[in-house]
Amino acid sequence: MPVIRFVREGRDVECFPGENLRAVAVREGIQLYGLKGQLGNCGGCGQCSTCFVKVEGETSTAAMSARTAVEEVKLRRRPEGWRLACQSLVEQSVVVVTKPQASMPDQTKRVAAALAAPLPPGPLEWPGASAVDEDAVDESATDETMQPLEVSGQGSPATPGEER
Ligand code: FES
Repeated sequence: MPVIRFVREGRDVECFPGENLRAVAVREGIQLYGLKGQLGNCGGCGQCSTCFVKVEGETSTAAMSARTAVEEVKLRRRPEGWRLACQSLVEQSVVVVTKPQASMPDQTKRVAAALAAPLPPGPLEWPGASAVDEDAVDESATDETMQPLEVSGQGSPATPGEER
């Protein structure tokens, strides 16, 4: 599986291929946000521009999903390689600097060391994908047991507290 190497935090975190970078960071307790983003962020909707990361290395474009239309707008005055974590899907192992707008001691040296150390190639198959037993699917769930929901009543639904 792909590994995200977070340079500032000095951590390697494994994720599923195609997993959202912000979701992985939140799950792993990695702080993506500076003070502004900690005080308020959009929760991953691509609206607040506070979840910046910098993707390092020559393989960065192959390792991540392409920039979204939202990123093209929000990142137009930002350096090449910056992404919005909430809009980025991790396809292969990648080296990332969180909060690239903030200084980091020995940044050049640390990034170089992170890039020099080998990363697993990724992506591999989803864990357990080959172990799914297709015969184990419940064949009894046929059209007879799967009825569409009936919509009762006419007109607009009653509002709470309103008598029909
Ligand atoms: S969390 Fe708001 S833009 Fe990413």
